Amino acid sequence: MPVLLNNKYSGPCQVCPALLIQKGEALLCLAGLKEHELSLLLVDDPAMQELNRQWRHKDKATNVLSFPQGSDDYFEQHPMLGDIVISITTAAHEAREQGISLHRQLTTLLVHGFVHLLGYDHERSDHDAEEMFGLEHHYLQALATRRKKMVKLAINVDHVATLRQARGIKEPDPVTAAAIAELAGAVGIVVHLREDRRHIQDRDVEILRQTVQTKLNLEMAAAEEIIKIALELKPDMVTLVPEKRAELTTEGGLDVVGQKSNLKKVIARLTKKKIPVSLFIDPDSAQIQAAKEVGATFVEIHTGRYADATSDREEDQEFDLIAAAAEEAYEAGLRVNAGHGLNYVNAGRVAALPTIEELSIGHAIMARAIFVGLDQAVREMMEVCRFA
Ligand code: PXP
Repeated sequence: MPVLLNNKYSGPCQVCPALLIQKGEALLCLAGLKEHELSLLLVDDPAMQELNRQWRHKDKATNVLSFPQGSDDYFEQHPMLGDIVISITTAAHEAREQGISLHRQLTTLLVHGFVHLLGYDHERSDHDAEEMFGLEHHYLQALATRRKKMVKLAINVDHVATLRQARGIKEPDPVTAAAIAELAGAVGIVVHLREDRRHIQDRDVEILRQTVQTKLNLEMAAAEEIIKIALELKPDMVTLVPEKRAELTTEGGLDVVGQKSNLKKVIARLTKKKIPVSLFIDPDSAQIQAAKEVGATFVEIHTGRYADATSDREEDQEFDLIAAAAEEAYEAGLRVNAGHGLNYVNAGRVAALPTIEELSIGHAIMARAIFVGLDQAVREMMEVCRFA
């Protein structure tokens, strides 16, 4: 049941060919055509315009074209359903207009092209259109094994501890902040126990382990001293992050590819104690595959570059990277979280990605809490996620 993909698109949008191949294979299965071959061609708008002009006498680009395969001796032995051509340029434009990920739009176009190959044509009559769209809906539902509920919100309370440490006294207490965040609806509390103990202290994690009612996610470097604490403490999950002493906050994702054997051992030690491990990674295919190989349960996709983008174009490009990475990780069987730099303006778009389970947000919520109170700041972020 091979799906042959030819990627002739070389523009700026990030496409994950492996995902399209998987979806194409799933469609052949759903249609009972396991023995057939399907060819996918990804192009840009000028190439699509040329094909549309040549084959349909329409001198403009379009999103998807289907070319059913004729039958001859070769195809008797190698049944070929046909070719689907997709313009990534147009698909990306449509995805942006609808506020969905490029991969979601590519799936919709793939299904549309596929149903055309099966002989359906919405242009023939209203009845045919109804039949065709009904089948497309059915296939899209079958392919969509995604989160159906709203994204979960976990609150990082490190910055409450930062304020406390600035004075070296007892207030404000991150333990109190965690309780307020939970009462406001957060479903998880995140703390980063840094090796330099610049904000969260050992005392905090010990009390939080006793008091957090939802889920305690301990962020930490894969450093022996902290690993021992985690094994003893048994948080509900651990997120491994890179840690540099001079950084203001976690700067980049973990280099899982470069530290596979060490991370594999650390993850094995934690999972033996039934502590699931998440790896904080940049939206990068190689890091995702390595995360899977070393036995991570989750990845947390670093949203920092998306959050820091200085133009709409850059923000769109970074968002496409996150969307493609989340899809790829999800399809690889990893659970997917995301976080860093998310705020009341930029979080909605990430929250809407159906492959992302949970957002981890700290700074923006604490910054707003100074003015409106923590309870309200958490509730307002929940609203951003709810209506995403
Ligand atoms: N996720 C990870 C792995 C982090 O290191 C941080 C920062 O502590 C966050 C999420 C939250 O980032 P922010 O404070 O910018 O919301």
